[in-house]
Amino acid sequence: MKTVKIESILEVFDSIVELPEYVRDLMKEAAEARKRAYAPYSKFSVGAALILDNNKVVTGNNQENASYPSGLCAERTAIYYAGSQYPDAKVVIMALTAGSQSDVNTEPIPPCGACRQAISEYEVKQEAPIEIYFMGETGKVVRSKSLANLLPLIFDKTYL
Ligand code: THU
Repeated sequence: MKTVKIESILEVFDSIVELPEYVRDLMKEAAEARKRAYAPYSKFSVGAALILDNNKVVTGNNQENASYPSGLCAERTAIYYAGSQYPDAKVVIMALTAGSQSDVNTEPIPPCGACRQAISEYEVKQEAPIEIYFMGETGKVVRSKSLANLLPLIFDKTYL
């Protein structure tokens, strides 16, 4: 038996004002997208904004459904749209902001496991890291320089 230690490095910024202007702008797009979320059941709104290497910005938000599992998270709404509209473009940055409709979330809220798997598919496909910034509505922002930091031991096409 041997023990395997897995380490991830994430960077935490105290506030959005510490980020470069282009990331702040992308986070603002994510916040606008969050306001358009369709989340009548959870009352938890998530916004995602991606910038592609063709300079297009794609946004998405969570879309819920009376049949709960039929809904979709913001991250997948956005990245599937990007994949469907710009199949040859690479995703450079993903900005995420999430919060309850009844409270102000101040803690960074990371993407769920299913979204990490979905994002990793594109990171593997494009052979270049996707930088991810995530936050609540206000407060600290976390940066992961690659999706891989958020999902060690990814399942990818090499196992098929
Ligand atoms: N949600 C996202 O949009 N992204 C995540 O990474 C986590 C959860 C959505 C799904 C659902 O509409 C609501 O947040 C509550 O789970």
